[in-house]
Amino acid sequence: MKLRTIDGLDLRGKYVLLRDDFNVQIVDGQITDGFRIEQSMPTINKLRQMGARIAICAHLGRPKGERNMSYSLAPVAEYLGVRLIPDCLDKDFMADMHDGDVVLLENVRFYSGEEKNDSAFATELARGFDVFVNDAFAVSHRAHASTVGVAEILPSYAGDLLASEIMHLSQVMENPQRPLLSIVAGSKVSTKIGVLKALAKLSDKLIIGGALGTTFNYATGGRVGNSLYEADQRDVALEILEYAREHDCTVLLPLDKGVAKEFARDAVRTNKDFSQIEEDDIIIDAGVATTERDVNEIKHAKTVIWNGTVGMAEWAPRWSYGSFALANAIAEQTRNGALESIVGGGDTVAALTACGVKDDITYVSTGGGAFLEFIEGRILPGIAILEDK
Ligand code: 3PG
Repeated sequence: MKLRTIDGLDLRGKYVLLRDDFNVQIVDGQITDGFRIEQSMPTINKLRQMGARIAICAHLGRPKGERNMSYSLAPVAEYLGVRLIPDCLDKDFMADMHDGDVVLLENVRFYSGEEKNDSAFATELARGFDVFVNDAFAVSHRAHASTVGVAEILPSYAGDLLASEIMHLSQVMENPQRPLLSIVAGSKVSTKIGVLKALAKLSDKLIIGGALGTTFNYATGGRVGNSLYEADQRDVALEILEYAREHDCTVLLPLDKGVAKEFARDAVRTNKDFSQIEEDDIIIDAGVATTERDVNEIKHAKTVIWNGTVGMAEWAPRWSYGSFALANAIAEQTRNGALESIVGGGDTVAALTACGVKDDITYVSTGGGAFLEFIEGRILPGIAILEDK
């Protein structure tokens, strides 16, 4: 896929509407992980150097078309050190802008026209701008006014982050070094059916972990106690296993688990294999044998694609054991030049950050849902419209 990029454009004095994904976690007004913002900086700085006058358009959370200030982008404006324009449709600020200036427009999802991709809203959002640049890979799976609508109105281009995401993800999908090991975990089979099938088709081995793995264990007759799993996804899980078999992909399900009697950060941890799991046991993390097996698989792979933590990684250190072991093993192999690693998804990236190994990974995607849909082979509307035909 060839995208129209900003290279070679004459943007001096031009008003650029830049779409970024600043959908970051904010706790008590503080940004807990600025990864998406940091990854967006090179394009912002490049556009500044090109002399553009930049208004960044972004969303935060799902305010459902209402001006709910708990979803304000004010903390992001502060983090960036730029002026926040309190209404994304306001144009008055433009008159005061100089070449290289940057402002941040308030949450575009405060308007219901955004998620509906309403054409009148898109027209108003685009008004006054010369060019649209989309650098928000992470929201490019949404056909919204600020991803698709404005791109139909203004000359539109892919920013460097978006282009780099497509390049890295396409490379690994089209021409992976083998053996290719995929690790998919997280909570719901129902949200990952497409990606599980796509990766079963592409990979030599597929590790399924987390609550997702518990559903597969349940489907294949394992005891799961009082854990989180989806009983109604049993047939889907069996179908995915069959699909993997047809495509010569070896699926590795959890062998044992870290369990507790209550779902709590400080709950007492016991390691149990499935035959030992009791009715009141709650699975919270991968077990020791499973983790050892998975680390060993990582050591024998040439490419790893990882999405989803295998337990409550945010409850460190007791329940992060499995996820952190994967993060450290993938990082170590990549550091040693033995592995190409691709990681995506907010929780998974947070686990890398917590282990201090994010910089060791070959490519860390800013996408969550967009990462999964891209791997699934779906056409992302925010990207399709930037294609150079
Ligand atoms: C994300 O965080 O994955 C993107 O910003 C998309 O957010 P959404 O799922 O609320 O559309």
